[in-house]
Amino acid sequence: RAPLRVALLGCGVVGSAVATRLVEHAYDLAARVGAPLELVGIAVRRPQRPRPDVPVDPALFTADAEELVTRADIVIEVIGGIDPARGLILRAMEHGASVVSANKALLAEDGPTLYAAADAADVDLYYEAAVAGAIPILRPIRESLAGDDVRKVLGIVNGTTNFVLDKMDTSGAGFAETVEQAQALGYAEADPTADVEGFDAAAKAAILASLAFHTRVSSADVHREGITEVTAGDIQAAKEMDCVVKLLAICERVTSADGSDAVSVRVHPAMIPRSHPLASVRDAFNAVFVEATAAGPLMFYGRGAGGDPTASAVLGDVVAVARHKVAGGRGPGESAYADLPAVDMGQA
Ligand code: HSE
Repeated sequence: RAPLRVALLGCGVVGSAVATRLVEHAYDLAARVGAPLELVGIAVRRPQRPRPDVPVDPALFTADAEELVTRADIVIEVIGGIDPARGLILRAMEHGASVVSANKALLAEDGPTLYAAADAADVDLYYEAAVAGAIPILRPIRESLAGDDVRKVLGIVNGTTNFVLDKMDTSGAGFAETVEQAQALGYAEADPTADVEGFDAAAKAAILASLAFHTRVSSADVHREGITEVTAGDIQAAKEMDCVVKLLAICERVTSADGSDAVSVRVHPAMIPRSHPLASVRDAFNAVFVEATAAGPLMFYGRGAGGDPTASAVLGDVVAVARHKVAGGRGPGESAYADLPAVDMGQA
């Protein structure tokens, strides 16, 4: 079978891990898909920059992402942020490409525009890597649990803040000092705002709630409090009660004040007993609990960030959408029919 042309947008930590696996595991990926995956280009800001860690022909690097997306069957977007990622994804779909994205901010802010574009173009839009890195969580919610009623999704979905809170717990140090340590170790970014203020977790919570409850939840609907106000004293007080402090994302089906169905989606620091399974989520790991009516409780645990773990989720999506291309169809789309209002119940 003719190769499927794959374009990669972005070559940072995740993009270089994706490119490397695409090349080094080309034989296995082709066998699993039923067609070779040919990397036809990598869009970056500075194509001339040497990238010795990425084992591809340097001629594949281009600054012209707009052109690249028009000559691909599958476009992988790992640039992040709203623009230009949104325009490039829409353009890729208009040209018939299926899209695999790791972009939680974009999906949480403007998912419906992207889903509509995927429907109009009859292509796939997969984004398993956008939430909890390597942990397979979106497809289980969207597909495996599609015959059940999910009532609650509860998780630690931000590795940076979990690392910081865990270190504060073990060292007794304060917030600012621990963030500096996390930055020095490469866990926290130079500008840690998105993580420590809870924006990253709120975007992930919006995506989880949308899929779990078949409705539209955007980042703006999420009640959000980060960890910047958590002090060494708070951690100590929690310890004295045999608890740990974790930044939780909580998505629930609730009954609103007027008795109608609604969803509550919130991100905030919470005290949880040390005996609770979430208390044992250490370092930068993530964990997600799902409660569904028929299935009962389910638990997912693993690495939520990093090049290789995130590349695992991206490439799983690439194989899925490539298989659909080979079969001449597309996978399950979004099923947002419930139209449930998001109510702000604050911390509960
Ligand atoms: N900054 C994110 C985290 C990376 O710390 O979990 C993965 O989205």
